[in-house]
Amino acid sequence: MIPVVILFLLAFVFSTEARITNVVLFGDSFTDQSRSHSISNGSFPGRNYQQVYPPADHAADGGFQWPFYLGLYGNYTISNYAVGGSVCSNDLTPLFGTPDVLTGQQDWFIQDHISGNGTHQQKLLSDPNSFVIIVWIGTNDVGIHSLVTSDQPAKVSLVDVADCQLNALRKMHKLGARRFILNSLIPLHLTKLYAESDDGTIYWPDPHNGTVWHKGIYNLVHSLNRILNDGVQNLNREWKGDGNVGWFDTYRFFEDIYHNPERYFNGSIPANVTGHCHQCPDPHDWRQCDIGDCTPDQRDSFMWWDELHPSEQTGRHLAEEMNRKIRGVSAY
Ligand SMILES: *[C@@H]1O[C@H](CO)[C@@H](O)[C@H](O)[C@H]1NC(C)=O
Ligand SMILES: *[C@@H]1O[C@H](CO)[C@@H](O)[C@H](O)[C@H]1NC(C)=O
Ligand SMILES: *[C@@H]1O[C@H](CO)[C@@H](O)[C@H](O)[C@H]1NC(C)=O
Ligand SMILES: *[C@@H]1O[C@H](CO)[C@@H](O)[C@H](O)[C@H]1NC(C)=O
Ligand SMILES: *[C@@H]1O[C@H](CO)[C@@H](O)[C@H](O)[C@H]1NC(C)=O
Ligand SMILES: *[C@@H]1O[C@H](CO)[C@@H](O)[C@H](O)[C@H]1NC(C)=O
Repeated sequence: MIPVVILFLLAFVFSTEARITNVVLFGDSFTDQSRSHSISNGSFPGRNYQQVYPPADHAADGGFQWPFYLGLYGNYTISNYAVGGSVCSNDLTPLFGTPDVLTGQQDWFIQDHISGNGTHQQKLLSDPNSFVIIVWIGTNDVGIHSLVTSDQPAKVSLVDVADCQLNALRKMHKLGARRFILNSLIPLHLTKLYAESDDGTIYWPDPHNGTVWHKGIYNLVHSLNRILNDGVQNLNREWKGDGNVGWFDTYRFFEDIYHNPERYFNGSIPANVTGHCHQCPDPHDWRQCDIGDCTPDQRDSFMWWDELHPSEQTGRHLAEEMNRKIRGVSAY
């Protein structure tokens, strides 16, 4: 009997895999390829916006962002609605006012994938089993100018930030989407920005109490991840099989990279998970950024591109693991 059951399960996994042809992404600069640059360029991305790739533009990882590689590795059509600097909701943790995951980024999804929005003829244009929606947001919500520096509006808590993410999934479920992956936050305390150091960085040039930030971000990331993980289980109960959200443990995946760098990095120098390639020698003068960068040959040795962002090589591995996740065979 048992082998038969296993065969059925395998058949289910494989038939599911065969049908996923598209991936839709929401998020911030960890995912954005060029939308935030387009906005600062003065050309607001509209319907069917096409991402701009190197050499014309580079993402916050210094090159091609991981969804590009995900599309390549899994032969998926990618709809990437992430915008650098974004948060889950500008009403909760406003930062730059860029399109947020809950509203502005979803509007793009509606424009591209829903016909007759808001009418009785409203229709999702793709088979809900053909695409998966990946949400990866929260780094800015918990970060500087927000929770970790106590700059959030009064009466906004971490629970609101978590509920926002779960409600973003509920909204897309209402629009007809059925397959989701929610990413946990990465170990941000490993980045230079949140290191136990009082030195300024390009993202916060002035000295600050590094111990307070380091401990604070650790606490916020762990707490948000726990609330979200519980929320994902609740959501799956709520949907009673009519829709599914998977949890991708980006935190644990990044920890594995950090502790086993030789497995992941292949640039021309020994793997480096503590420093970063891209340098800004004077944090008060962004025009000096690029001075002292690692060489192109050395890039793939670094886990981090800069004081906050993962490198392109880290992104390639994330894409590879996410492709496994979509196929139901990831350990994360
Ligand atoms: C920014 O504007 C320039 C000039 O119009 C254009 O070539 C480039 O593709 C734009 N970048 C983005 C990210 O839209
Ligand atoms: C990639 O996907 C396209 C469209 O879904 C399909 O036509 C093509 O056969 C696929 N290619 C491979 C190598 O699987
Ligand atoms: C879709 O319809 C809803 C309900 O009428 C409306 O609130 C929302 O702004 C519409 N979105 C877009 C992108 O048109
Ligand atoms: C940073 O804050 C901690 C906790 O309030 C305090 O113990 C420490 O002395 C502060 N460090 C500096 C350099 O002010
Ligand atoms: C490192 O490995 C990736 C695949 O993970 C490959 O695309 C890249 O070109 C390699 N980098 C170098 C410098 O060999
Ligand atoms: C890692 O890279 C940084 C540059 O950001 C450098 O200062 C540091 O010495 C490197 N660490 C190792 C172990 O090579």
